[in-house]
Amino acid sequence: MRKPIIAGNWKMNKTVSESKELINEIKNIDLSKDVEPVVIVPFTSAYVAKELLKDTDIKVGVQNMYFEESGAFTGEISPLMLADLEIDYVIIGHSERREIFKESDELLNKKVKSALEHNLKPILCCGETLAEREENRQEEKVKSQLEKNLDGVSIEDIEKIVIAYEPIWAIGTGKTASSDDAEEMCKFIRNLIKDMYSEEASNKVRIQYGGSVKPNNIKEIMYKENIDGALIGGASLEADSFAALVNY
Ligand code: PGA
Repeated sequence: MRKPIIAGNWKMNKTVSESKELINEIKNIDLSKDVEPVVIVPFTSAYVAKELLKDTDIKVGVQNMYFEESGAFTGEISPLMLADLEIDYVIIGHSERREIFKESDELLNKKVKSALEHNLKPILCCGETLAEREENRQEEKVKSQLEKNLDGVSIEDIEKIVIAYEPIWAIGTGKTASSDDAEEMCKFIRNLIKDMYSEEASNKVRIQYGGSVKPNNIKEIMYKENIDGALIGGASLEADSFAALVNY
């Protein structure tokens, strides 16, 4: 059984004081024990988030990292720094990192392997642009991303990775992929993991859908066989809405 994972990606939102407020509000709401809730906060709020959530079941993630442990990499955050904070998850290859910050598949592969070496669980994002979808090239795109990003990742490690399928045209646009389209791509990803690793590995790896998930559409998405969770931006920024997503 794959435990559903509902993760709120705060993106570049919330100061430290706003983060404290939101986390305290979330802590006051009963969350389902059948789901793994994760808040994915800005680096500046990571310490306070870990402190406030230490006696709860809510996990803490961050949105990026560099692959080197230390050195002359001005402005970067290392896996050692995150591991020292006992951060649980790290998003790698969000489409905003790929598109705006031009992160390449090769760089993302180094980040995935480095996160795993430091016991940080990657949430590896993949997904096609609108143009690629219109040309029916979504499978080709996702296959190419995952083959490159997972190059050299062992069969023991693949189970620790969460894969998030996020079609770029559905992020922050209010356009959700239909639950059937989302399921089709998550199933495609599971089959790809089966080909790259094994049937057992493909049955264990958790696959999320992301892109305009809201309290009113999450249920339909989560009932799909191959969708094990959601990665949520906008709708995760308020306690009631985040709780409604976790308690779908
Ligand atoms: P959204 O973002 O829920 O605001 O569409 C999803 C994401 O980028 O992870």
